[in-house]
Amino acid sequence: MRIDASNRKVSLDIRDPDFYNDPYPYYQRLRNSCPVFLWEEHELWTFARHEDVVALFRDRRLGRKIDPQDIPACRRPSNASSATKPFFDIDQLSMLAQEPPTHTRLRGLVQKAFVARSVEQLRPRIEQICHGLVDRMIDAGQCDLLEAFATPLPVTVIAEMLGVPVEMTDKLLAWSHAMVKMYEMQRTEQMELNAVAASREFVAYLRQLVMDRRRNPSNDLISRLVEVEEAGEKLTEDELIANCILLLNAGHEATVNLIGNGMCALLKHEDQLRRWRSDRDLTETAVEELLRYDTPLHQFNRWVLKPFEFRGQQFEVGQEIALLLGSANRDEDVFDSPDELELGRKKNPHVSLGGGIHYCLGAPLARLELSIAFNVLIERLPNLELVDEPKYCNTFHFHGLESLIVRC
Ligand code: HEM
Repeated sequence: MRIDASNRKVSLDIRDPDFYNDPYPYYQRLRNSCPVFLWEEHELWTFARHEDVVALFRDRRLGRKIDPQDIPACRRPSNASSATKPFFDIDQLSMLAQEPPTHTRLRGLVQKAFVARSVEQLRPRIEQICHGLVDRMIDAGQCDLLEAFATPLPVTVIAEMLGVPVEMTDKLLAWSHAMVKMYEMQRTEQMELNAVAASREFVAYLRQLVMDRRRNPSNDLISRLVEVEEAGEKLTEDELIANCILLLNAGHEATVNLIGNGMCALLKHEDQLRRWRSDRDLTETAVEELLRYDTPLHQFNRWVLKPFEFRGQQFEVGQEIALLLGSANRDEDVFDSPDELELGRKKNPHVSLGGGIHYCLGAPLARLELSIAFNVLIERLPNLELVDEPKYCNTFHFHGLESLIVRC
């Protein structure tokens, strides 16, 4: 990494294994010497401090949706090209790609299903899924915890909530893995083509499912959204499909990685794991600490919608900025001993679930899944241990392990 603090410029290659396996020392240097910088490789103004990330998440002069005409031609992203158009045509209809009033309308239609009171009803089913997966881990003796536990749990939960048949989970995972590559900064043309192909198949599948639910409504979220759509004016069929794709993808990608990163951190901090085993009342703060300590999502971007000045830097309409969540969560101005895993941490305003109007809709569900998952793993697998030193995937937006080989 090369830091030119006087000109606020940084060169940092996200494909460097030293960086993606442990980005935190890099972030620390950035926060201390150049917390607001132009990331040369990506031509992105980037913010590394907690205070700035929180402020900019909430700043309405920034947003996730911009009129492409407002972006200078030289900076227009690849969603303007014809090859990736089918992907972005559907992606831009999701609430995550919208601003008010459309964002408010779309989020409002599904919000009720994701509030804490509603998701709490899923507790017995989530426990049942976790126990079933652990039974199989015990039978296997040694396994990849990501494959055997972390991956199947959240996709099963979100598919059941929406009403997607359970035999589709392998397909959902394949589509989702291909599609989320589009959000990575170092994507290749082949990754883009795969993402487009996956989004086409996903849309075609959901269109069929929506047609089926029109004829045979059931007690699931897709059927309820079909009802809203048929009542007219509140939701189009394409919006319904785009937001189901968002829920299915967002509903598992980050949770999988957090179970992996979190379990890995616990297995490397035996004192903390022992403490949690002997004091289950620690669950609430422990889950927040695992969310903070090694967050699965390291960067989110925003468009500048109105010109503004921030930290002595002028920003113009059409510029894109990046917020470093992984760095904000280790900010020494906010967290005591930020590089330590402290399951009982009291003051923990981490930003892993975002902030402002796009704050994670699935936060109560994620917290419920994580607390049940870790408790079942801790309770049922008292001798769980790492077999290999795990490595992280060569990705940046998603920060997660390639595998987590454990002995039960
Ligand atoms: C550990 C797990 C999770 C993490 C770390 C996480 C993180 C995030 C973050 C950081 C955002 C904000 C993105 C931005 O502002 O640009 C977000 C948004 C969102 N998340 Fe999550 N998420 C998790 C689990 C879930 C789950 C289980 C769901 C289930 C439905 C979900 C659904 C969503 C949706 C729909 C949005 C968009 C909200 C909006 O645009 O208003 N997430 N998530």
